[in-house]
Amino acid sequence: MRILVTGAVGFIGFHLAKRLLVDGHSVLGFDGMTPYYEPALKERRRAMLQNYDGIQFVEGMLEDSAHLRDTVTSFRPNIIVHLAAQAGVRYSIEHPDTYVQSNLVGTANLLEAARLCPPQHLLIASTSSVYGGNADRPFREVSRTDFPVSLYAATKKACEAMSHSYAHLFKIPTTCFRFFTVYGPWGRPDMALFKFVSAIERGIPIDVYGEGRMRRDFTYVDDLIEGVVRLMSIVPKTGAPVTFDNGLDSLSPVAPWRSVNIAGGQPIELMDFIKVVEAAVGKPAILNMLPMQMGDVEITHADPGLFMALTDYLPATSIEAGVQRFVEWHRSWTQQAERSAT
Ligand SMILES: NC(=O)c1ccc[n+]([C@@H]2O[C@H](COP(=O)([O-])OP(=O)(O)OC[C@H]3O[C@@H](n4cnc5c(N)ncnc54)[C@H](O)[C@@H]3O)[C@@H](O)[C@H]2O)c1
Repeated sequence: MRILVTGAVGFIGFHLAKRLLVDGHSVLGFDGMTPYYEPALKERRRAMLQNYDGIQFVEGMLEDSAHLRDTVTSFRPNIIVHLAAQAGVRYSIEHPDTYVQSNLVGTANLLEAARLCPPQHLLIASTSSVYGGNADRPFREVSRTDFPVSLYAATKKACEAMSHSYAHLFKIPTTCFRFFTVYGPWGRPDMALFKFVSAIERGIPIDVYGEGRMRRDFTYVDDLIEGVVRLMSIVPKTGAPVTFDNGLDSLSPVAPWRSVNIAGGQPIELMDFIKVVEAAVGKPAILNMLPMQMGDVEITHADPGLFMALTDYLPATSIEAGVQRFVEWHRSWTQQAERSAT
């Protein structure tokens, strides 16, 4: 199949594109190589993808509607996986405009391109952050998402809503997957695991927000990718809800559109997570205890029932094994960066 992956040199996009190439698909990676975090990481990921025969790479911004439209109409993808976005909760407080441009304008442009050249299935990355201040846990796809506590969450909720309108109006089958704190090799330097490992290795204190009482439902990246790949072939059809024990399908009554959590449903407290990181690094952390940051939610906890019913799969990598793999990768990445600096 011809698969367009936006955000292909981002953390998740890189892993997805690699998996699709290994599976023999033809992949067009579209990415603006934005400077949100160290460009060397994105360049390295891009170079690794370019080792595969089936890859084409187009550098461009979602905001450039004509370029995006031409890219989509000339490639004519069977499937579009839209991952490119300005990610990060905390950055959205100081840089709202980037979120408006990348996530709102960018996603609207992507939807217009998909309208001109409709794929068999459009899959869009959303986030656990859309559940925001909802106190009903675990979060189900049918739980309310009307209480965003960051602009990042608000823009992702808007992406879900915009894509629903296109699914309804133009019959574009669409799945919005809600990711929950994804981690693993080639991960994002702005995320806690990367920051913790870098600091503990160097004996620098780590900032522990929410006094360590926050809980996160972590997903190891390979598990996430398995879920994404399985969902690619589960194309929503209007009026065909999946039924399962104690669950409600989120399928729209008026459009081939569905939202799905991808997570294991096993949240872990921040202090326990830090213990796992300390064990993997082999050194104790120096803790700088701080209150909750603006925009953060106290707990993310997925109900994976719909995801399991649809895919017959549940993320299974233990946090110990996943963090260990991240630490090993981080060491080799740091050594490589030090070698190229000398
Ligand atoms: N990593 C997580 O834990 C997590 C959790 C929830 C949701 N998500 C969502 O998953 C998706 C992928 O996240 P990630 O962790 O891989 O982030 P990432 O920042 O590593 O990847 C995003 C990629 O998109 C590109 N990009 C950003 N804005 C762009 C624009 N306007 N035009 C073109 N390219 C642009 C960037 O260059 C980057 O390579 C995002 O939509 C994010 O919001 C991630």
